[in-house]
Amino acid sequence: MINFNNKTILITGGAGFIGSNLAFYFQENFPNSNIVVFDCFRSEDKFANGNLKSFGHYKNLIGFKGKVICGNINNQKDLNLLSDYTFDFIFHEAAISDTRVYDQNLVMETNINSFYHLLEIAKRGNSSLIYASSAATYGSLPSPQVEGSENPENPYGFSKLMMDQIAKDFSTQNSEMVIIGLRYFNVYGPREYYKKNTSSMIIQLGHQILNGNAPRLFEGSDQILRDFIYIDDVIQANIQACVNKKNGVYNVGTGIPRSFQDIADILQKELGTNYKTEYFANPYVGYQMHTQADMNSSKLNLDFKPKFSLELGIKAYIEEIKRLHGTENLW
Ligand SMILES: NC(=O)c1ccc[n+]([C@@H]2O[C@H](COP(=O)([O-])OP(=O)(O)OC[C@H]3O[C@@H](n4cnc5c(N)ncnc54)[C@H](O)[C@@H]3O)[C@@H](O)[C@H]2O)c1
Repeated sequence: MINFNNKTILITGGAGFIGSNLAFYFQENFPNSNIVVFDCFRSEDKFANGNLKSFGHYKNLIGFKGKVICGNINNQKDLNLLSDYTFDFIFHEAAISDTRVYDQNLVMETNINSFYHLLEIAKRGNSSLIYASSAATYGSLPSPQVEGSENPENPYGFSKLMMDQIAKDFSTQNSEMVIIGLRYFNVYGPREYYKKNTSSMIIQLGHQILNGNAPRLFEGSDQILRDFIYIDDVIQANIQACVNKKNGVYNVGTGIPRSFQDIADILQKELGTNYKTEYFANPYVGYQMHTQADMNSSKLNLDFKPKFSLELGIKAYIEEIKRLHGTENLW
């Protein structure tokens, strides 16, 4: 285990879901680490799909004692604000994380171009760089999804696959560097709330039930399976990536696909309700019907073993789902 005390750590996207959880992990476990969060935070700007352009939220960082830099990864002037530091570790989470943004120009600029700059910053500082890739690189390839066989079906998935390729080339040219990509599957847990309707179905269905409504699912939801992974396991994958230094891109899932019906049923058990699920037609064409991370490479090379089943994850999360219920004033 690495002692992160006295290490300087950059977390891009640190006001977002996964980034803020990383920030608190280091703060709580390594109180003498120097943590710098870089995030553009949310503005009122929206994409054409009606969703906010960025989800970073100050409430994710209440209690954070490190440094915060508000900046845009697309803006060199903002990135220059990082030049006062030499980072031991960089966790690059900042991205357009909304898979339904079809402004290709903006997705590629934000997710790909900025990555070249982050790689250069890591090279200059001799920093280990752990970055967020995504299961969206697989599109709807049959399960289990294995690193090395990808077929993205939206601009977001393509941008993440390009990041993986750039990382691979960069790491070949700079073999002394540590550059590891983590292909997160469907992550859920505390601090995702401000992603609103791009947050996981776990919190969305939880709040539906707490509103006194029956869970509403697509028809055939017992057959729509995803690899849902709890945030604590995702944090552990990031830590393992720092410990085990075989450069590459690795799946971060549980390896066990579960249905949306399972989510609704487990939530009802935890919340003590017994509503009859309501079904409606799935409006999406090309909807992913089955994801399941092949975990062989992550086990072998990162020694990463997820601990939370869907049951355990929802149990750990349920009090926070209740606490957030009804706090509709998102500002
Ligand atoms: N949550 C998941 O299930 C999941 C799955 C696969 C991959 N990922 C990837 O993991 C990373 C973190 O995801 P998340 O769920 O925490 O999403 P998130 O949207 O909560 O976090 C992303 C953060 O990046 C910031 N950001 C966006 N554009 C920026 C810009 N131009 N400059 C600076 N900051 C910017 C946002 O404000 C936000 O705080 C992302 O790269 C995402 O693509 C997440």
